[in-house]
Parts: sequence; structure tokens; C-alpha cells
Amino acid sequence: MRRNVRVMLYGVGVIGGLVAKFLLEKKGIEIVGAVDVARDKVGMDLGDIIGVNKHLGMAISDDADSVLSRTKPDIVIHTTSSFLEKVVPQIETIVKHGVNVVSTCEELSYPYLSSPKLARELDEIAKKHDATILGTGINPGFLMDTLVIALTAPCERIEQIKVARVMNAATRRVPFQKKIGAGLTVTEFKDKMRNKIISGHVGLEQSIAMIANALAWELEKIQVDPAEPVIAEKDVRSEAISVIAGQVAGLRQCGFGIRNKKRAISLEFEAYIGAKEEYDSITIEGVPPIREKISPCIHGDIGTIAMICNAIPKVINAEAGLLTMKDLPIPSAAVEDMRKYVKLEGE
Ligand SMILES: NC(=O)c1ccc[n+]([C@@H]2O[C@H](COP(=O)([O-])OP(=O)(O)OC[C@H]3O[C@@H](n4cnc5c(N)ncnc54)[C@H](OP(=O)(O)O)[C@@H]3O)[C@@H](O)[C@H]2O)c1
Repeated sequence: MRRNVRVMLYGVGVIGGLVAKFLLEKKGIEIVGAVDVARDKVGMDLGDIIGVNKHLGMAISDDADSVLSRTKPDIVIHTTSSFLEKVVPQIETIVKHGVNVVSTCEELSYPYLSSPKLARELDEIAKKHDATILGTGINPGFLMDTLVIALTAPCERIEQIKVARVMNAATRRVPFQKKIGAGLTVTEFKDKMRNKIISGHVGLEQSIAMIANALAWELEKIQVDPAEPVIAEKDVRSEAISVIAGQVAGLRQCGFGIRNKKRAISLEFEAYIGAKEEYDSITIEGVPPIREKISPCIHGDIGTIAMICNAIPKVINAEAGLLTMKDLPIPSAAVEDMRKYVKLEGE
């Protein structure tokens, strides 16, 4: 009988908790440890924190090093922050144990252009310890980069790529609704954005860089415009947040990859409570032209959990180093017993 794939959770917030719930139902894989620094989680049983109404006999620890030594996971699911500088020490701790990582850190999804030095250091340390690192998720990680790259495959020539994602944030998790400013006044939104108290969507720069790299396009620059608030025209609400007409319901963010002085790659991201038409669209002006539209848009939280868990076997099976989605085999769902997809050491 083959042993289960062993997973440690690093970050047990909303996404980490949903990953845990999903993995508990899945065959061929087991959670062997959980780490988080939130004061109200440390020492608590994982089952109580993720709300599964049963004790799992696993206390959440704030000491990643000792959980890694004790549990010897095959892979860590890392969901603590969007920003590379914050997560680098955490990722280094993991790979020093020779353990693979899949992270939702947006800036890790394609750091080779935005943070080349940190990317190189992570790649070197991962190779030294024979571990693989991947940053992924629904976006960045799939909808505005990997899927776009795949759709370019049948093109002989490409002039321009336009990608749009529009979603009703009412159905998304609360930390997401907060980071897009839902429920703030316009002044609060601008202040919080300026002071980096809320981030908006992180990842347009990385998605553009990944697409350009796949096409070997040298961009003159990547321009990401400041986020604009989307103002509610009438009162709207999610389960957790009420937005009065005139307040901020969410935001619009655009990023462009400039090539030959033109916007060769355009990404437009809109997320606000009350959006009527939700979709993901990719338009490629080229030979042949391609128009793709997913309607309604793919649910970001469900999609992220799936992207992360489906990446587990591909990351375990991959060569060592800091990889990106474009370096791995075609993404696909691992819907069966996880052991069917994984080659574990010693087997
Ligand atoms: N790529 C994508 O498509 C995608 C999709 C979804 C989410 N994400 C990103 O994934 C991250 C997690 O999202 P979320 O909604 O789950 O956020 P969340 O609910 O805030 O969860 C993050 C958890 O990590 C903990 N944490 C922070 N720093 C830590 C550290 N140094 N060591 C251990 N634990 C630490 C936090 O504790 P405190 O609360 O005490 O800080 C919190 O419990 C966010 O950055 C989000 O933007 C990316």
C-alpha cells in the first residue's frame, strides 16, 4: 500500500482553512502539521479553527521550523501574504528542510522580472536543498496569465492581447472584500491605498511579465495604473459588508505591457460588490484572432483552492528550483486519489 502524500499548512487564514477542509475529504493525502502566527489560532486545534466540528488532534503552532522537523511533509501549502519580501524568510525556512512549497503569494507567481535578486536567491536555495517552489492561485496563477499563454498556442502571429476579469465581490471571502476597499468612503479608500493598508489586487505586473516571457517579447515597460474605486450607484451588500450608495463597492485596476510603444498586453481587473455581468475574457488580435469568454467568471476562492491542491503532484514531481506556472506541465485537476498523480521519494 502506498503511503499518503504529507502536507503541512503554513497560514491557516480563510484560504488555508478552505484548503484544509478540501484536503480532509480527499483520498491519498493527509495534513500532518499546521502553522500560523495569529494569536487567536496558536495552540488551538486545527479542526476548531477551520470549523469542521471535530477535533483533529493537531494544535496550530507558530514554530514552522520545529513542525517541519517533526512532521517531515512532502509539501507545504503556504498562504500567509501577497508580498515577496515578507514571505521569503518563510519560504527559505521550508526549503531548508528539503520540502516543496506551493504558495498563494501573488508576487511569487512570477518574480523573475519584478524582484530578480530575490527570485535568483530563492531558486538557488531551492536547488541546493532539492526542493521546488511555486507561486500560484486563480489570479495570478491561471486566469490572467497561464490560460492566456495556453490560448496563444494556435497563433502564428500576435499583435495584441487583452484580458478582462469582472466579478461580483459579494460572493468572495471577507479578506478579499476588505482588500478591494468595499464599504469605505472614497477618501478612506484613497488614504488606505496610499498608506498600503489595503492592497487591491496584487499580481498584474507578474501576470504581464509571465505572458511576455512565454512569448519572448521584450517589453519597454510594464505599467500598472493606480487602482480606481468603483462607486456604488445604490445600496449593495455581501453577507459581511454593507455598502451605501456613494461609497466604494470595490475597484478597477489596469496593467499594460508596452512593446513598440503600444499596449501589446492589457489586463483589466474589476471586482466590486453588485457587479451584474461577471466574466473572464481573453482576446488575442493575431493570426488567427481568438475570442474566449468564460461567463460567469470562475469563482476566485474555489478556483484558488483547486489550483493550489491540483498543483501538489506537479510540484512534487518537478525538478528543484523556483518554478512558475509556465514551467510546469499543462495544469489539470487531480480529482482522483492523490497518490495516482504523485511520484514520492523512495517509491
Ligand atoms: N494567487 C491567488 O489567486 C490568490 C487567491 C487567494 C488568496 N491569495 C493570497 O493568499 C493569501 C492568504 O489569503 P487569505 O484570504 O487566507 O488571508 P488571511 O485570511 O489573512 O490568512 C493569512 C493567515 O496567515 C497568517 N500569517 C501571517 N503572517 C504569518 C507568518 N509569518 N507565519 C505564519 N502565519 C502567518 C495570518 O495571521 P494574522 O491574521 O495574525 O496576520 C492569517 O492567519 C493573501 O495574501 C491573498 O492575497 C492569492
